[in-house]
Amino acid sequence: MHKDKPSRTALKVALNTLTLAAKKGMDEILPAGLVEATETLLVASGAAGARTVRWSRSPKMVSVYEAFDWMLPGQFEAFAHRKAFCERQVRDGIRKGATQIVVLGAGYDTMGWRLAPEFPDAIFFEIDHPATARLKAQGIDAMGQRDNLSLIAEDLGTQKLSDVLMASALWDPRAGTVFVAEGLLMYLPPEAVRDLFNQCAAVAGSGSRMAFSYIPTGADGRPDAGRWTGLMLWLQKTAGEPWTWSIRPEALGEYLKESGWTYAAEPGQTARKYGVEFYAVATK
Ligand SMILES: C[S@@+](CC[C@H](N)C(=O)[O-])C[C@H]1O[C@@H](n2cnc3c(N)ncnc32)[C@H](O)[C@@H]1O
Repeated sequence: MHKDKPSRTALKVALNTLTLAAKKGMDEILPAGLVEATETLLVASGAAGARTVRWSRSPKMVSVYEAFDWMLPGQFEAFAHRKAFCERQVRDGIRKGATQIVVLGAGYDTMGWRLAPEFPDAIFFEIDHPATARLKAQGIDAMGQRDNLSLIAEDLGTQKLSDVLMASALWDPRAGTVFVAEGLLMYLPPEAVRDLFNQCAAVAGSGSRMAFSYIPTGADGRPDAGRWTGLMLWLQKTAGEPWTWSIRPEALGEYLKESGWTYAAEPGQTARKYGVEFYAVATK
């Protein structure tokens, strides 16, 4: 990705989320308060102008996204399901004793900012590439800092997550932790993904979990985005954020085991593909 430019895909996810609010029935899936907080954050950070945000929230924009559904069926709505999945994992993790939440490649996600006051005994960490993290920090400053939310600007492709977390005086390696890697792993080199799983297992206490999304590997060995895979891979590459990691769902259990995690299905949910991604949970 472009080292000195804020992530375009993070902005796309955030704007897509706003548009979902204009689609009938999506309010039942989108976490409460997410749309309003995202709108405020985008404008306050300068990531998007007020007009862009207003336009994104209009029903016309729903039609635009739906017109592209032939290319990646289900991908538009998938962002709502992904946000809901991650928030369920964080809430469930805290209910079961986790006191640290780490959102990796957080982009313009507002979960930490929204949940921090509700869970004052937990500490929320967010890590993103410096260009995106700094812009977001401006927005969070304007929206109001949270005492238990720490924004960290680091490149996880070059910095070890364990070094980054252990450098924080707030980090407790024995604490139950929920790691969230939402729409991140496909952008990291394979060795960085392996390292990330290893390090998350090494720096957190027992009872920890990782909630993540991933793109499955297709029969040709490439990330599988369906019929238009070639075009999608090209578009991602051209946008400067190529997909570099994917995995076959059948191989995930063994892959996680090798990194100190156990693959766990989300209780009450059937494993299914949302748009181009699967959502998964690993426990320790
Ligand atoms: C598709 S966006 C997803 C953002 C957010 N997780 C969400 O779903 O709303 C991918 C995010 O990963 C971040 N990212 C990609 N490569 C990264 C790296 N090497 N280190 C830190 N963050 C990275 C990008 O800056 C971007 O914010």
